[in-house]
Amino acid sequence: MKKDLLSIKDLTSAEIDSIFKLSFEVKKNKNKFAKVLSGRSLALIFQKPSNRTRVSFEVGMYQLGGNSLYLSPSEINIGVRESIKDVAKTICRYVDGIVLRTYEHKNCLDMASSATVPIINGLSDYSHPCQALADLFTVKEKLKNLKNVVLAYVGDGNNVCNSLLLAAARTGMSMNVASPAGYAPSQEVIKQAQASADKTGSRIVIMEDPLSAVKGANVVYTDVWASMGQEEEVNKRKIIFKDFQINAKLLAHAAPQVLVMHCLPAHRGEEITDEVMDSKNSIVFDQAENRMHVQKAILMKLLGKN
Ligand code: CP
Ligand code: NVA
Repeated sequence: MKKDLLSIKDLTSAEIDSIFKLSFEVKKNKNKFAKVLSGRSLALIFQKPSNRTRVSFEVGMYQLGGNSLYLSPSEINIGVRESIKDVAKTICRYVDGIVLRTYEHKNCLDMASSATVPIINGLSDYSHPCQALADLFTVKEKLKNLKNVVLAYVGDGNNVCNSLLLAAARTGMSMNVASPAGYAPSQEVIKQAQASADKTGSRIVIMEDPLSAVKGANVVYTDVWASMGQEEEVNKRKIIFKDFQINAKLLAHAAPQVLVMHCLPAHRGEEITDEVMDSKNSIVFDQAENRMHVQKAILMKLLGKN
């Protein structure tokens, strides 16, 4: 049966561990996997702009011996030119997997239910599972384990935060989330993360004070204050989130060797300062690089012959 990756909820703790093991191997030995997806094709259907997701999937697929085709928002025009279900039913006659970047998570669910090939969520309003997997892989690479790590997420309780919470809870990493009132992750996600955390020993704390969140944290993470699709809220959010900036003053409350992460693109001077983004603590570009290694492992697992 085909397997989709729409949310971290689609993966067990053991499956995440297995993706990480393969990612380490892929990163260490690129040539070993040069032909594993030969003859396989991946469609990238994107309704929003992208740098990292598009490039890392396209190059990753090429490095595995397969090929990919990018379909821009105006080409497929989901729901306008034809229904998402008809798009899915058609495209899966040609390709072996689809990466979908869409505004509404429901589109991921609809595409997955109509397609006969694996659907990978390349970012929806609800989740960004490939990002969270690459992020935790990066933390593991730097700190060797996840169980004793506390990651402080400061900012909007958005798609990236949702996926980080679910991934942290499944891998035993602890997470503090500090967001302004009304911008915390949804109760549903917190409940789901807590249920996994109870089994793995991860500690999930949701709060409104960035200072308490970063105290004692090994990693400080942030994302944009207004996500794609929320452009009309940019000015309002700049005011609401102004005390949630990752700057030197806030980081002074964390350990000196704290790692700083951001999924990118960053709005320098808003959620993160230049000084922090360019500091020795920042691992944002290692994170970006690891998107490709981890996604190659995901592609092998979902599109591979075994
Ligand atoms: N982090 C991330 O998904 O980047 P892009 O939007 O550039 O793909
Ligand atoms: N939260 C951001 C992440 C971009 C990778 C957005 O959805 O725009």
